[in-house]
Amino acid sequence: ASTLGASAAEKGRYFGTAVAAHKLSDSQYVGILNREFNSVTAENEMKWDATEPSQGRFSYTNADRIVNHARANGMSIRGHALLWHAQQPGWAQNMSGSALRSAAINHVTQVASYYRGRIHSWDVVNEAFADGSSGGRRDSNLQRTGNDWIEAAFRAARAADPNAKLCYNDYNTDGVNAKSTGIYNMVRDFKARGVPIDCVGFQSHLTNSVPGDYQANLQRFADLGVDVQITELDIAGTNQAAVYDTVTRACLAVARCTGITVWGIRDSDSWRTGANPLLFDNNGNKKPAYTAVLNALNAG
Ligand code: G3I
Repeated sequence: ASTLGASAAEKGRYFGTAVAAHKLSDSQYVGILNREFNSVTAENEMKWDATEPSQGRFSYTNADRIVNHARANGMSIRGHALLWHAQQPGWAQNMSGSALRSAAINHVTQVASYYRGRIHSWDVVNEAFADGSSGGRRDSNLQRTGNDWIEAAFRAARAADPNAKLCYNDYNTDGVNAKSTGIYNMVRDFKARGVPIDCVGFQSHLTNSVPGDYQANLQRFADLGVDVQITELDIAGTNQAAVYDTVTRACLAVARCTGITVWGIRDSDSWRTGANPLLFDNNGNKKPAYTAVLNALNAG
């Protein structure tokens, strides 16, 4: 096929992008979005600070703009993210202990219930593992409420939206390393104990290269009985087209890799200022990286 979304669909997968609500009035942006993509992730609009700016008062205006655009155009939606140590509203940043735990679980319940039936996959918990060699959890106010905060969040999300796929999402997990292995062990434990988890998101914010065991790493998670998704792909530096090709082919080679999301449309939309890590240039033109991904999706 001649677009990313249609080509991915022929392989039983989606191809998505992060979307910012305030750009939905940019006709060039929307033109590319509607032509190329069949899945969206709200870049910021579903995060805790955006959806519950004061405790117990929920705000969905900007998130709904993205959800409504997606549904009107037949796109599926990745929900991002119910709980994260970053982008918490100030009131939550100042909480701890059982009060924070209750507030966090209430947040999961409220937001997942509001969007029940409309979200393909939720990032229930984002970035809860530490970088480096420990393989353990990241310190955060949420982690300090008790190590079981992640499973409590997944159970609340399942109860609120039984048909959404529930994902754990993180970065620097692109190869077999201490961090990805820590997550692997958590997922294996969740599956063994019946904690509801359906998918693992690999953000894949890359520079110059991708680990040689990227596909093997996706496969070892899939072998635990979860789907895997590439959730925030962007690639800075040299060899950009070749690395996009490798990542795309890795997903296609893993039966349970159900989709790829790039973290923005044009280079000028990227959070990585000046890195030009996306598939379209600042003028909305297709880059060599675009052609590499399209050809990889259509190969074989
Ligand atoms: O909305 C405010 C605006 O009112 C204010 O004037 C302006 C001044 O700084 O800030 C605006 O908020 C910014 C927000 O993006 C919306 O543009 C924040 O400062 C800025 O920090 C925030 O950055 C986002 C970042 O997450 C926050 O951690 C990026 O757009 C977003 O791409 C990025 O996405 C994350 C994923 O959620 C998780 N994985 C990593 C990824 C990249 O950091």
